[in-house]
Amino acid sequence: MHTLREILTETQTKGGALGHFNISNIEGLWGAFRAAQGLTLPVIIGVSEGERDFIGIKQVVALVRSIREEYQYPIFLNADHTYSVERVKEAIDAGFDSVIFDGAELSMEENILKTKECVAYARASGREVLVEGELGYIGKSSKLLDEIPEGAAQGEALTSPEDAQHFAQETGVDLLAPAVGNIHGMLKHSKDPHLNIARVKEIHDVVNIPLVLHGGSGTPDEDFVAAIKVGVGIVHISTELRLAYRDAVRKALQDNPDEVAPYKILKGAVRAIEATATARLKLFNNL
Ligand code: G3H
Ligand code: ZN
Repeated sequence: MHTLREILTETQTKGGALGHFNISNIEGLWGAFRAAQGLTLPVIIGVSEGERDFIGIKQVVALVRSIREEYQYPIFLNADHTYSVERVKEAIDAGFDSVIFDGAELSMEENILKTKECVAYARASGREVLVEGELGYIGKSSKLLDEIPEGAAQGEALTSPEDAQHFAQETGVDLLAPAVGNIHGMLKHSKDPHLNIARVKEIHDVVNIPLVLHGGSGTPDEDFVAAIKVGVGIVHISTELRLAYRDAVRKALQDNPDEVAPYKILKGAVRAIEATATARLKLFNNL
């Protein structure tokens, strides 16, 4: 089985990007996996601290691994937005394929120091665990928004190529998530703001490692395509899946008020997640 690093290189060589889909439960996992399987594409499953606490840290590792082994499939597990070194170590020990230390709200010095510690721990794990660093604040939650999250970097405050280069060099991260106009969550009444594609390219040119685009939900389609062309190798999608899940559960309950079997109530939610993830994977991979 190829490693995540190899799969990422292969995907980028073909001009595409890996879809990273956040899950909160096994319905999400089946939805995301079936979307990838339907298109014969590799996939990353992401769990934030809250999502992995809900599923169970060891349990989510076992679930993803069981699919990988049963289907001999390139499905990987990422410890998304992790705010302490201790929790990064916990995820590495549990068997995650990649981890994100999110120091976006820390000073550059502190962010470098803690990210470096995570990189050292990953390297010493005896497995290939990729480490992603975060530079630039883009909001914190995957939810429906009335406005751009307070403090999210826009305009002048976007991650600069100089900072990105310094951070990547000092920490030795495998992947970098910059603030390039993207926001976590999605606006309720319009598309999210456009990405600064020139900035994505400038950053990628100097760091020379794959970039990760967070806050994918609500991003204009053409921006994904352009960003992938200039260095984005992984795209994170969460809110769109949560919305698809919520709407499908609501519909199932409204349509069948006497249904009490969870597997019947939630069947439509799995299909809705699959459909949403399929559409995103097609776009990210020019299909
Ligand atoms: O890490 C999670 C993502 O960046 C998801 O962002 O909810 O805007 O799709 P999103
Ligand atoms: Zn994110």
